[in-house]
Amino acid sequence: MNFAIVGATGNVGRKTIDILERSKLRINNLFLVASKKSSGKKISFKKKKIKIISLENYDFSKAQITFFAAGSSVARKWAPIAAKKTIVIDNSKYFRMHKNISLVVPEVNEKTLRNYKKTNIIANPNCSTAQLVLVLKPLHDKFKIKRIVVSTYQAVSGAGKASTDELFSQTKDFLNGKKIKSKNFTKQIAFNLIPHIDKFAKDGYTKEEWKMENETRKILDPNIKMTATCVRVPVKTSHSESINIEFKKSYSLQKVKALLKKAPGCKVIDTQKNGGYITPIEAEGSYFTYISRIRKDNSNKKALNLWVVSDNLLKGAALNTVQIAEVLIKKYIK
Ligand SMILES: NC(=O)c1ccc[n+]([C@@H]2O[C@H](COP(=O)([O-])OP(=O)(O)OC[C@H]3O[C@@H](n4cnc5c(N)ncnc54)[C@H](OP(=O)(O)O)[C@@H]3O)[C@@H](O)[C@H]2O)c1
Repeated sequence: MNFAIVGATGNVGRKTIDILERSKLRINNLFLVASKKSSGKKISFKKKKIKIISLENYDFSKAQITFFAAGSSVARKWAPIAAKKTIVIDNSKYFRMHKNISLVVPEVNEKTLRNYKKTNIIANPNCSTAQLVLVLKPLHDKFKIKRIVVSTYQAVSGAGKASTDELFSQTKDFLNGKKIKSKNFTKQIAFNLIPHIDKFAKDGYTKEEWKMENETRKILDPNIKMTATCVRVPVKTSHSESINIEFKKSYSLQKVKALLKKAPGCKVIDTQKNGGYITPIEAEGSYFTYISRIRKDNSNKKALNLWVVSDNLLKGAALNTVQIAEVLIKKYIK
């Protein structure tokens, strides 16, 4: 099959190229698309140099599956046009909560892909949501989740390439005693953290927090109660989450650990000694979502605490879209 990536020069687009290069998908041609600014530049794929095409000059009928990784405004304008000629798998937030559009983490709700033809557009969840629902799924199946309280520690790469560069330049300027300039973040991010991701809503939450709550309910179960606090931290890659889960049923720690150990896409690294847990830098580049610090909530016998870390550009974005494409091809495209 032929594939295309819109936003091929960005953080998620480049990771998608890497993952396609390593995947078992049989790729005849890969078309790389970005803005006019990148048109004509070349990116390597399987020992070939592929020329970037500008979005305005690209013909969407060239590929059967097109990954969109260019943000909401590009998705809003171009994905419906593209979807007349290709299947769109979109990374942006724009289509995620649309009624007729599947929001998919294959290990959790693959079956919703059977509806893809209604629009020819499939949405990829927010990076923080993907790693969360992956871990919650086996626990919800067994013990029925009543309520989740989650705090995130999100890497700068989640805000795009320009924001990643801002962490590097601020760190350099800070160490050289120079004045710090903030452009992509609302405050200094180097040697600091910012409890604010995406815009503020009227109720005092941020849109990132809303996204996590609504997307988790759409993917896993609309009856789950949830509250989130999303924080940007000066980490390059991998989002971390501190998760408190209250179940409807009683649980045992032994059963929880056994379920998580066999959860698809997950790895448990959890020993109660120095270093017996995963940190963001160790998860970078890995296809796994890591679970550490599994322990009972001492204030509520039906609740559990977890620490979950995953590469936000992989399971949180590019890897999940490629996995969606793989399942689509294997089971749903006739
Ligand atoms: N980063 C994450 O962890 C993550 C996780 C989940 C979802 N997402 C979502 O994935 C999308 C991409 O994020 P990112 O982090 O990769 O952003 P990024 O690094 O800023 O890259 C943006 C890409 O979009 C292209 N682009 C921008 N405006 C365009 C236009 N008008 N026409 C054509 N191409 C255009 C850029 O091309 P040029 O280089 O030519 O400007 C670039 O290739 C966003 O919707 C984001 O919310 C990101």
